[in-house]
Amino acid sequence: MSVKKILFVCLGNICRSPSAEAVMRAKLKEHHRSDKYIIDSAGITDFHEGGAADGRMQQHAQRRNYNLTSISRPVIAPKDFDDFDFIIGMDDQNMRDLKALASSKAHVNKLSRMTDYCTNFTMKEVPDPYYGGAAGFELVLDLLEDACEGLIKKLEGGQSNKG
Ligand code: 4NP
Repeated sequence: MSVKKILFVCLGNICRSPSAEAVMRAKLKEHHRSDKYIIDSAGITDFHEGGAADGRMQQHAQRRNYNLTSISRPVIAPKDFDDFDFIIGMDDQNMRDLKALASSKAHVNKLSRMTDYCTNFTMKEVPDPYYGGAAGFELVLDLLEDACEGLIKKLEGGQSNKG
């Protein structure tokens, strides 16, 4: 059985991508697929390197029973691009930054955006909640729950990365 490695990426790795990591882990557990995947997250920047997830994001996630345990780290290129099978960004700027970090066509082909996997929401980005209020954190979780379900369906359906 081959294990697939997924890296979720946002700007600071303290709000959206640690939440994506926790939601994906929980959903894989629900689907009895935990053994088939390795999940991690990282930030475009190292501003919060070594720090825990944002306290507001942790509180909102906890209300839905997601425990945000990851510690912020930056994306490491080319290592992360070699190590992971899927590198999934949250917004337009993340995608631009990830493309700039990719050093081959094979690396670019590993990139996709989180909202590509949504089946209920039509938004094209997971918006940065950092400077906003409670509704922004809730929206992040709503989008991530939708996207993670869609991502699992896609991966387990045997289809490849959307690119
Ligand atoms: P994230 O949110 O990219 O979802 O982790 C942010 C975290 C920190 C900052 C911006 C966005 N910041 O400017 O420090």
